[in-house]
Amino acid sequence: MNNVTLHTLSACKQAGEKFAVLTAYDACFAHAVSEAGIEVILVGDSLGMVLQGQDSTLPVTVDDMVYHTQSVARGNQGALIMSDMPFMSYATTELAMANAARLMQAGAHMVKLEGDRWLADAIALLSERGIPTCAHMGLTPQTVNKMGGYKVQGRDSESAKQMIEDAVLLEKAGASCLLLECVPALLAEEITRAVEIPVIGIGAGAATDGQVLVVHDMLGLTPKRTPKFVKNFMADTGDVQSALRAYAIAVKDGSFPAEEHTFK
Ligand code: KIV
Ligand code: NA
Repeated sequence: MNNVTLHTLSACKQAGEKFAVLTAYDACFAHAVSEAGIEVILVGDSLGMVLQGQDSTLPVTVDDMVYHTQSVARGNQGALIMSDMPFMSYATTELAMANAARLMQAGAHMVKLEGDRWLADAIALLSERGIPTCAHMGLTPQTVNKMGGYKVQGRDSESAKQMIEDAVLLEKAGASCLLLECVPALLAEEITRAVEIPVIGIGAGAATDGQVLVVHDMLGLTPKRTPKFVKNFMADTGDVQSALRAYAIAVKDGSFPAEEHTFK
Protein backbone atom coordinates (compact mmCIF):
# COMPACT_ATOMS: atom_id res chain seq x y z
CA MET A 1 0.00 0.00 0.00
CA ASN A 2 1.25 3.50 -0.82
CA ASN A 3 1.60 5.75 2.20
CA VAL A 4 -1.87 6.82 3.28
CA THR A 5 -2.19 10.52 4.11
CA LEU A 6 -5.01 12.87 5.08
CA HIS A 7 -5.28 13.64 1.40
CA THR A 8 -5.99 9.96 0.66
CA LEU A 9 -8.90 10.00 3.12
CA SER A 10 -10.33 13.23 1.71
CA ALA A 11 -10.05 11.85 -1.82
CA CYS A 12 -11.96 8.74 -0.68
CA LYS A 13 -14.74 10.92 0.71
CA GLN A 14 -14.95 12.99 -2.46
CA ALA A 15 -15.06 9.89 -4.65
CA GLY A 16 -17.66 8.25 -2.41
CA GLU A 17 -15.27 5.38 -1.62
CA LYS A 18 -15.21 3.88 1.87
CA PHE A 19 -12.00 3.43 3.86
CA ALA A 20 -11.23 0.98 6.65
CA VAL A 21 -9.76 1.61 10.09
CA LEU A 22 -8.74 -0.94 12.73
CA THR A 23 -7.01 -0.69 16.07
CA ALA A 24 -3.52 -2.13 16.55
CA TYR A 25 -1.28 -1.80 19.58
CA ASP A 26 1.92 -3.59 18.55
CA ALA A 27 4.29 -4.06 15.62
CA CYS A 28 2.99 -7.49 14.57
CA PHE A 29 -0.66 -6.43 14.35
CA ALA A 30 0.34 -3.12 12.73
CA HIS A 31 2.14 -5.10 10.03
CA ALA A 32 -0.81 -7.43 9.45
CA VAL A 33 -3.43 -4.66 9.48
CA SER A 34 -1.54 -2.41 7.06
CA GLU A 35 -0.68 -5.35 4.76
CA ALA A 36 -4.41 -6.15 4.57
CA GLY A 37 -5.02 -2.80 2.86
CA ILE A 38 -6.61 -1.09 5.87
CA GLU A 39 -5.98 2.62 5.44
CA VAL A 40 -5.80 3.79 9.06
CA ILE A 41 -4.39 2.15 12.20
CA LEU A 42 -5.89 3.47 15.41
CA VAL A 43 -3.66 3.11 18.46
CA GLY A 44 -6.73 3.31 20.67
CA ASP A 45 -6.81 3.86 24.39
CA SER A 46 -9.06 0.79 24.24
CA LEU A 47 -5.68 -0.85 24.95
CA GLY A 48 -6.49 -0.15 28.60
CA MET A 49 -9.29 -2.67 28.41
CA VAL A 50 -7.99 -5.01 25.70
CA LEU A 51 -4.33 -5.29 26.76
CA GLN A 52 -4.31 -4.19 30.39
CA GLY A 53 -7.63 -5.68 31.52
CA GLN A 54 -8.88 -2.42 33.03
CA ASP A 55 -12.61 -1.70 33.49
CA SER A 56 -12.44 1.51 31.46
CA THR A 57 -9.99 3.58 29.42
CA LEU A 58 -9.40 6.07 32.26
CA PRO A 59 -6.22 4.48 33.69
CA VAL A 60 -4.34 4.74 30.35
CA THR A 61 -1.40 7.18 30.45
CA VAL A 62 0.48 9.19 27.84
CA ASP A 63 3.50 6.94 28.51
CA ASP A 64 1.37 3.89 27.63
CA MET A 65 0.23 5.55 24.40
CA VAL A 66 3.80 6.55 23.47
CA TYR A 67 5.06 2.99 24.01
CA HIS A 68 2.33 1.41 21.87
CA THR A 69 2.52 4.10 19.17
CA GLN A 70 6.28 3.47 18.84
CA SER A 71 5.65 -0.28 18.52
CA VAL A 72 2.93 0.22 15.89
CA ALA A 73 5.10 2.64 13.91
CA ARG A 74 7.87 -0.01 13.64
CA GLY A 75 5.51 -2.60 12.13
CA ASN A 76 3.41 -0.30 9.97
CA GLN A 77 3.53 -0.70 6.18
CA GLY A 78 2.11 2.60 4.91
CA ALA A 79 -1.10 3.04 6.89
CA LEU A 80 -1.92 6.37 8.54
CA ILE A 81 -1.34 6.06 12.29
CA MET A 82 -3.86 7.78 14.54
CA SER A 83 -3.13 7.73 18.29
CA ASP A 84 -5.56 8.42 21.08
CA MET A 85 -4.85 11.18 23.54
CA PRO A 86 -5.70 9.49 26.85
CA PHE A 87 -7.92 10.71 29.71
CA MET A 88 -7.01 14.24 30.94
CA SER A 89 -4.01 14.56 28.60
CA TYR A 90 -5.78 17.44 26.78
CA ALA A 91 -7.65 18.98 29.72
CA THR A 92 -5.98 22.31 28.89
CA THR A 93 -4.58 23.54 25.58
CA GLU A 94 -1.04 23.54 27.05
CA LEU A 95 -1.38 19.90 28.07
CA ALA A 96 -2.85 19.05 24.67
CA MET A 97 0.12 20.60 22.89
CA ALA A 98 2.80 18.92 25.00
CA ASN A 99 1.16 15.49 24.96
CA ALA A 100 0.20 15.54 21.27
CA ALA A 101 3.83 16.40 20.49
CA ARG A 102 4.96 13.26 22.35
CA LEU A 103 2.56 11.06 20.36
CA MET A 104 3.65 12.61 17.05
CA GLN A 105 7.31 12.06 17.98
CA ALA A 106 6.44 8.44 18.81
CA GLY A 107 5.22 7.95 15.22
CA ALA A 108 1.59 9.09 15.07
CA HIS A 109 0.39 11.01 12.02
CA MET A 110 -2.76 12.30 13.73
CA VAL A 111 -4.13 12.42 17.27
CA LYS A 112 -7.69 11.75 18.43
CA LEU A 113 -9.44 13.65 21.24
CA GLU A 114 -12.83 12.87 22.78
CA GLY A 115 -15.35 15.66 23.23
CA ASP A 116 -17.60 18.19 21.59
CA ARG A 117 -17.48 21.98 21.15
CA TRP A 118 -15.15 22.43 24.14
CA LEU A 119 -12.37 20.80 22.06
CA ALA A 120 -12.33 23.74 19.64
CA ASP A 121 -9.45 25.63 21.30
CA ALA A 122 -7.14 22.61 21.53
CA ILE A 123 -7.99 21.53 17.98
CA ALA A 124 -7.32 25.03 16.62
CA LEU A 125 -3.97 25.24 18.41
CA LEU A 126 -2.80 21.76 17.37
CA SER A 127 -3.91 22.28 13.79
CA GLU A 128 -2.15 25.65 13.62
CA ARG A 129 1.06 24.02 14.88
CA GLY A 130 0.85 21.23 12.28
CA ILE A 131 -0.75 18.39 14.23
CA PRO A 132 -3.84 16.91 12.54
CA THR A 133 -6.68 16.01 14.88
CA CYS A 134 -9.67 13.71 14.86
CA ALA A 135 -12.60 14.72 17.10
CA HIS A 136 -14.27 11.67 18.67
CA MET A 137 -17.96 12.47 19.32
CA GLY A 138 -21.09 10.63 20.41
CA LEU A 139 -20.24 7.93 22.95
CA THR A 140 -16.96 9.07 24.45
CA PRO A 141 -15.65 6.29 26.74
CA GLN A 142 -13.39 8.62 28.75
CA THR A 143 -16.55 10.32 30.09
CA VAL A 144 -18.36 7.06 30.93
CA ASN A 145 -18.77 8.15 34.56
CA LYS A 146 -20.61 11.30 33.55
CA MET A 147 -22.66 9.57 30.84
CA GLY A 148 -23.72 6.89 33.34
CA GLY A 149 -22.69 3.96 31.15
CA TYR A 150 -21.87 3.06 27.55
CA LYS A 151 -25.07 4.23 25.83
CA VAL A 152 -26.11 5.29 22.34
CA GLN A 153 -25.88 9.11 22.08
CA GLY A 154 -27.88 11.69 20.10
CA ARG A 155 -31.20 9.84 20.33
CA ASP A 156 -33.37 12.88 21.10
CA SER A 157 -33.75 15.71 18.62
CA GLU A 158 -32.13 18.31 20.92
CA SER A 159 -28.87 16.36 21.42
CA ALA A 160 -28.85 15.34 17.74
CA LYS A 161 -29.10 18.97 16.65
CA GLN A 162 -26.33 19.87 19.10
CA MET A 163 -24.06 17.12 17.74
CA ILE A 164 -24.47 18.35 14.15
CA GLU A 165 -23.69 21.94 15.22
CA ASP A 166 -20.64 20.81 17.18
CA ALA A 167 -19.34 18.72 14.28
CA VAL A 168 -19.51 21.74 11.97
CA LEU A 169 -17.92 23.94 14.64
CA LEU A 170 -14.99 21.53 15.15
CA GLU A 171 -14.44 21.31 11.39
CA LYS A 172 -14.26 25.12 11.32
CA ALA A 173 -11.84 25.04 14.29
CA GLY A 174 -9.47 22.92 12.20
CA ALA A 175 -10.30 19.25 12.86
CA SER A 176 -9.03 17.01 10.05
CA CYS A 177 -11.38 14.15 10.78
CA LEU A 178 -14.37 13.15 12.91
CA LEU A 179 -15.18 9.86 14.60
CA LEU A 180 -18.73 9.05 15.65
CA GLU A 181 -19.28 6.27 18.19
CA CYS A 182 -22.71 4.76 18.90
CA VAL A 183 -25.03 7.27 17.29
CA PRO A 184 -28.20 6.53 15.28
CA ALA A 185 -27.46 5.83 11.60
CA LEU A 186 -29.56 8.73 10.33
CA LEU A 187 -27.77 11.25 12.54
CA ALA A 188 -24.34 9.92 11.46
CA GLU A 189 -25.44 10.25 7.84
CA GLU A 190 -26.52 13.84 8.39
CA ILE A 191 -23.21 14.74 10.08
CA THR A 192 -21.22 13.02 7.30
CA ARG A 193 -23.02 15.20 4.75
CA ALA A 194 -22.71 18.37 6.86
CA VAL A 195 -18.89 18.38 6.93
CA GLU A 196 -16.23 18.14 4.22
CA ILE A 197 -13.71 16.29 6.42
CA PRO A 198 -13.80 12.46 6.51
CA VAL A 199 -16.07 10.89 9.13
CA ILE A 200 -15.27 7.49 10.68
CA GLY A 201 -18.03 5.51 12.36
CA ILE A 202 -18.31 2.74 14.94
CA GLY A 203 -21.87 1.73 15.72
CA ALA A 204 -22.91 4.68 13.54
CA GLY A 205 -24.36 2.93 10.49
CA ALA A 206 -23.09 2.49 6.95
CA ALA A 207 -23.19 6.08 5.71
CA THR A 208 -19.98 7.37 7.30
CA ASP A 209 -16.88 7.65 5.08
CA GLY A 210 -14.88 5.10 7.09
CA GLN A 211 -15.52 2.33 9.63
CA VAL A 212 -13.48 1.32 12.67
CA LEU A 213 -13.50 -1.69 15.00
CA VAL A 214 -11.29 -2.93 17.80
CA VAL A 215 -9.18 -5.67 16.19
CA HIS A 216 -9.59 -8.15 19.06
CA ASP A 217 -13.39 -7.77 18.77
CA MET A 218 -13.51 -8.52 15.04
CA LEU A 219 -11.21 -11.52 15.48
CA GLY A 220 -13.53 -12.96 18.13
CA LEU A 221 -10.85 -12.77 20.85
CA THR A 222 -12.78 -10.62 23.32
CA PRO A 223 -13.80 -12.67 26.36
CA LYS A 224 -16.79 -10.48 27.27
CA ARG A 225 -19.97 -10.05 25.23
CA THR A 226 -19.22 -7.68 22.34
CA PRO A 227 -21.48 -4.74 21.41
CA LYS A 228 -24.15 -5.02 18.70
CA PHE A 229 -21.98 -3.17 16.14
CA VAL A 230 -19.20 -5.79 16.18
CA LYS A 231 -18.93 -8.50 13.52
CA ASN A 232 -16.63 -11.50 14.00
CA PHE A 233 -14.73 -11.75 10.69
CA MET A 234 -12.79 -14.79 11.89
CA ALA A 235 -15.93 -16.94 11.94
CA ASP A 236 -16.15 -17.24 8.12
CA THR A 237 -12.45 -17.00 7.25
CA GLY A 238 -10.47 -19.08 9.74
CA ASP A 239 -7.17 -17.20 9.74
CA VAL A 240 -6.15 -13.73 10.84
CA GLN A 241 -4.86 -12.39 7.49
CA SER A 242 -8.04 -13.50 5.69
CA ALA A 243 -10.23 -12.02 8.43
CA LEU A 244 -8.43 -8.65 8.15
CA ARG A 245 -8.77 -8.68 4.35
CA ALA A 246 -12.45 -9.68 4.59
CA TYR A 247 -13.05 -6.70 6.88
CA ALA A 248 -11.31 -4.29 4.49
CA ILE A 249 -13.36 -5.63 1.57
CA ALA A 250 -16.66 -5.57 3.50
CA VAL A 251 -16.11 -1.93 4.50
CA LYS A 252 -15.23 -0.93 0.93
CA ASP A 253 -18.13 -2.76 -0.73
CA GLY A 254 -20.57 -1.44 1.88
CA SER A 255 -21.62 -4.87 3.19
CA PHE A 256 -20.30 -3.98 6.67
CA PRO A 257 -21.93 -2.62 8.75
CA ALA A 258 -25.27 -4.30 7.99
CA GLU A 259 -28.66 -3.42 9.56
CA GLU A 260 -28.01 -5.80 12.45
CA HIS A 261 -24.89 -3.78 13.47
CA THR A 262 -26.71 -0.44 13.38
CA PHE A 263 -28.70 1.70 15.84
CA LYS A 264 -31.93 3.28 14.62
O1 KIV B 1 -9.81 3.33 21.64
C1 KIV B 1 -10.42 2.90 20.66
O2 KIV B 1 -10.25 1.75 20.22
C2 KIV B 1 -11.39 3.79 20.01
C3 KIV B 1 -12.32 3.20 19.01
C4 KIV B 1 -13.29 2.28 19.65
C5 KIV B 1 -12.99 4.22 18.19
O3 KIV B 1 -11.41 4.95 20.31
NA1 NA C 1 -10.35 5.44 22.23
